[in-house]
Amino acid sequence: MINVGIIGASGYTGLELVKMLLNHPSFRLNYLATSTGDVMLEELHPALLDLITFPVEEASVEMIAERCELVFLALPHKASMGLARELIERGVKIVDLSADYRLERTTYEAAYCPHEDPEHLGEAVYGLIEYYREEIKVARLVAGPGCYPTATLLGILPFIPYIDPDAPLFVDAKSGVSGAGKKLSETSHFVTINDNIFAYNPLKHRHAPEIEEKIAKVHGAKVSVSFVPHLIPATRGELVSVYATLKEEIDPMEILERAYAMERFIRLREKPVDIKSTAGTHFCDLYAARNGKALFVSSAIDNLLRGAASQALAAANLMMGVDEAAGLPVIAYVP
Ligand SMILES: NC(=O)c1ccc[n+]([C@@H]2O[C@H](COP(=O)([O-])OP(=O)(O)OC[C@H]3O[C@@H](n4cnc5c(N)ncnc54)[C@H](OP(=O)(O)O)[C@@H]3O)[C@@H](O)[C@H]2O)c1
Repeated sequence: MINVGIIGASGYTGLELVKMLLNHPSFRLNYLATSTGDVMLEELHPALLDLITFPVEEASVEMIAERCELVFLALPHKASMGLARELIERGVKIVDLSADYRLERTTYEAAYCPHEDPEHLGEAVYGLIEYYREEIKVARLVAGPGCYPTATLLGILPFIPYIDPDAPLFVDAKSGVSGAGKKLSETSHFVTINDNIFAYNPLKHRHAPEIEEKIAKVHGAKVSVSFVPHLIPATRGELVSVYATLKEEIDPMEILERAYAMERFIRLREKPVDIKSTAGTHFCDLYAARNGKALFVSSAIDNLLRGAASQALAAANLMMGVDEAAGLPVIAYVP
């Protein structure tokens, strides 16, 4: 068994990682931490009572290095790079769920804050499995993609060669409230979000430069993305609708079929997708249609899983030479 740890075990994505690792065929949970520790896991997450009993400690580089071959950093940005820098030097492999290693330094610093570990930023591999599988297999440090970029990129990347780069590309995205983490804010307050829906950070959300940078990396194409996220009254799930203009009249479903024929966790649907069919799973569901040169792409994921924790686990599986699908959830929370 391969010993792994989770830092940020009290958070939403930390909990999802615990749930998947409980029954993982090759990974053994050997270290759990939060910023303060000194608590049992089942106290933090009563849903785990009688399933696992495990002490949660205050995060310590020494203890992680002693007990783990690989660690998941389910931390806010900035907290991750402080730990990752030291851990990587001690030979611990890292899957970071935060934004700290996702972007080029200039893109990161424009959107977030000064980078404290530029030395390792250059070697980090972007953890979008279908596009970086071979690089992930040999990586020491994988950066989990943002949830919106995951849903958007999986939907739009196959179409980039056929899209008019001078026409606007709109990404209309909707997320359940867990996308913002466990900390309460005015917008995630029950009274604000219940029976409600609203846009936030329109055209200036930090995931827009991530989407643009990765389109440029995969296709060498400069595409300007107009990204508008919305909050919806759901716990989990993300729905992305992309509107773009084609250069030629292609068959959109045929493009998706060609791109993802070999991918077991991308499902092509015959009608626009929905969040519930992917909630609780690692799947990304896709659908596309066109009217003349107007292209519509519809993409759905579970933000906590394919948008964060299960994508991180798939990357860890690849990094440790284990079957990519090991431990990944596939049964949706339906009805
Ligand atoms: N939620 C999503 O859908 C989603 C999707 C994609 C990516 N992400 C990214 O994944 C990361 C985790 O997200 P989340 O939603 O799980 O956040 P969360 O629910 O707010 O949890 C964050 C966790 O980090 C811990 N923490 C904070 N600072 C720490 C430190 N210095 N040392 C150790 N632990 C520390 C917190 O522990 P305490 O209890 O001690 O404060 C908490 O357990 C974030 O960077 C987020 O942007 C999230």
